[in-house]
Amino acid sequence: MTKRIALVTGGTGGIGTAICKQLHDDGYQVVAGYYHGGNHDKAQTWQDKLKEEGYDIALAYGNIRDFASCEACIEGIRKDFGTIDVLINNGGITRDTTLRKMSPEYWHDVIETNLTSVFYMTRLVINDMLEKKWGRIVNISSINGEKGQFGQANYSAAKAGMYGFTKAVAQEVASKGITVNTVSPGYIATSMIMDVPEEIREEIRKGIPVGRFGEPEDIARVVSFLAEDKAGFVTGANISANGGQYMH
Ligand code: CAA
Repeated sequence: MTKRIALVTGGTGGIGTAICKQLHDDGYQVVAGYYHGGNHDKAQTWQDKLKEEGYDIALAYGNIRDFASCEACIEGIRKDFGTIDVLINNGGITRDTTLRKMSPEYWHDVIETNLTSVFYMTRLVINDMLEKKWGRIVNISSINGEKGQFGQANYSAAKAGMYGFTKAVAQEVASKGITVNTVSPGYIATSMIMDVPEEIREEIRKGIPVGRFGEPEDIARVVSFLAEDKAGFVTGANISANGGQYMH
């Protein structure tokens, strides 16, 4: 049987790498989307390292903020492997600062990279999924989209926006074998969290009932479940994985 094709945007990042490995172990042909401002060597180094660990993961370059670039990325994957069965919208950035100091540039950077990209990528794969009558879309949101976060008006707005998008699209495609869900990670031990000043980070850690930051694998397990054939009844849902930091 030919392998299903899974594209993970931001696939070479902290959570993205764990998702790529998990989906590879689940039997998918995994493609890691990357941008790195055009630094292809960085992506190549990532791919080589994973190969040494036994993971055969393809790379696809694309700027998720740019529709034409997304189109070229999806077209390249189509040519090399076929149409995408599983899309994990995981790529994202932070530009943290309080609202009183937030520039329009910081606002647009985060909204376009974290939210508009989800529209672009989903729009570009949805017709192939509709034709196949099967698909899995998982949007990686955040605890801070659920609860808001001091210093993240842009990021919280983008991540909250994903819930509305997910629930609207889930309704449109539910009868065609396609599920659309969000996963909302809490604070996961990746470079994104390590960029938060240490004293603030330590305060955040104290507020996590399980007593630790999450591991990228904690998120990859949830994504793996949602991508399964047998998860076909779960759609328009949000699964929080945050160590109990926010319960609602
Ligand atoms: N709640 C209330 N007040 C707070 C606060 C909080 N959480 N944090 C800081 N303040 C207060 C300070 O005590 C200070 O008060 P005074 O002016 O009375 O002394 C004031 O706010 C500081 O305000 P500034 O506008 O000067 O803010 P700053 O420039 O010092 O720092 C910040 C702002 C960079 C956003 C910093 O607070 C920060 O890094 N916060 C963490 C943001 C965060 O959690 N980011 C998550 C990144 S990881 C991620 O996003 C992944 C994911 O999905 C979870």
